[in-house]
Amino acid sequence: MDIKTFKVEEWMNEHEKTALYNIADTCVNTLSLDELFTLTGTNKYEFFDGISGQKLGYGHIQGSPDYKNGICKLYKSLKPENIISTNGAAGANYLVFYSLVNPGDRVISVTPTYQQLYSIPESFNADVQYLRLKPENNFLPDLDELKKLITKNTKLICLNNPNNPTGALIPETMLKVIVNIADGAYVLCDEVYRGLNQNDDYQPSIADIYENGISICSMSKIFSLAGLRLGWIASKNQEAIEKCLRHREYNIISCGMIDEILASLALKNADIIIKRNKKILKENLHILNEWIKRQKHYSYVKPRSGTTALIFYDFSMTSKDFCEKLQKEKGVFLTPGFCFDIENCARIGYAGQKAELIKGLEKLEEFAIELERAGF
Ligand SMILES: Cc1ncc(COP(=O)(O)O)c(C=O)c1O
Repeated sequence: MDIKTFKVEEWMNEHEKTALYNIADTCVNTLSLDELFTLTGTNKYEFFDGISGQKLGYGHIQGSPDYKNGICKLYKSLKPENIISTNGAAGANYLVFYSLVNPGDRVISVTPTYQQLYSIPESFNADVQYLRLKPENNFLPDLDELKKLITKNTKLICLNNPNNPTGALIPETMLKVIVNIADGAYVLCDEVYRGLNQNDDYQPSIADIYENGISICSMSKIFSLAGLRLGWIASKNQEAIEKCLRHREYNIISCGMIDEILASLALKNADIIIKRNKKILKENLHILNEWIKRQKHYSYVKPRSGTTALIFYDFSMTSKDFCEKLQKEKGVFLTPGFCFDIENCARIGYAGQKAELIKGLEKLEEFAIELERAGF
C-alpha cells in the first residue's frame, strides 16, 4: 500500500544527529530514569528489586490496571475499559484509522498538524478533506469551513489540540461547537500536549465532552518519557474501542510490561511531572517571546500551549533552503514549514534545555543579519 513520505519524521532523522543547537525537539526536556526517580522520590534499588523477579511474559494484553487507572485520572469521566494501551500516540493514531476508516469515507483533518492525521487515512483511500488553520485566525479552525466540509458520509474529524506545530489551543466552547457540527461522526483529537498550557486553566479532553470523541495521548510529551514508546486511545464509545482492540491483536498483542510499570510510576506522580514541565515551558516561552520582540525579520503567533511555534521570516527563500543553510552555517536545527505544507516559516521546539534555546536563538538572529547583508 502506498503512503506519502512522513516529511517531519524524515527531516528529523536526517538532520537531528548533526545539529549543534537542537531547537526542533517537541518533547519537554526528556527525563532519564534517574531524574524520574529523583522527581518522584523513588528509591531506584528498591524499585528494580521489586520488578526484577517478575516473569517477562506478555503482561496485561490490553494494558496493565495500574497504567490504565493512572490514565483515567487524567480524564473526568473515563474508566479503565475505555482505555487501550498502544505503542506511543503514533501507534494509537494508526490503530484508530486502521480500525475505523474504510475506502471512500470522508475524513476531515486540520492542517498544519502531525501528518499522520491526514496521510494515513489518505493511504486507506479515504476521501480526506483539509481544514486549513490560518495565522489570521490564530490558527484556530474556521467553523463555517468545517460546516461546508461535513457530509453524511463523514466518518471522522481529526483535531490536534493543543496543535503541533502552531501551539494554538482550541477553547472548550469551540470544541463543543465542533462536537455539534460533527453530529455523530467520530472526533479524533490528538491530545499529546494536553495540559501543557501557558495559563493554568483545565483543558478538557474530547473523550470527556463527546460520546464519540476519541482522545489520543502518550507518555512522550506531557511526561517527557518518549523513550517508553507508550501511548493510549481513550473513548467512551465502546464500539470504537472494540474495533480497535480487534485490529490491535493482529498488530502488537501487548505493550512492554516494564514500560507500563515505569509509565505507571510517572502517572502516579502526574502532578509533579506536569508542574516541572509547565515551569520549563513558561520560562522558555518567555525567553522566546522577549527574543522575537527584538527581531526585524522574524514574527510569530504566540503559542498558547504545547511545545512548538511557527517562526515566520521575511526572506525570499524556501523553508527547506532556509533550514538547510541555517544548519550548515550556524549549526541550528529547526524544522522547515514545508514539512507541514506551509511556507516562509520554520517550526521551533522551545521546550528543551534553556541554555541550548538561548544559544540557538542567538545564532538564528546572527543568521538573519547575514541573510539581510547578502540581499535575501
Ligand atoms: C501531535 C503529535 N501526535 C503524535 C506524536 C507521536 O508521539 P508519540 O511519541 O507518543 O508516538 C507526535 C510527536 O511529535 C505529535 O507531535
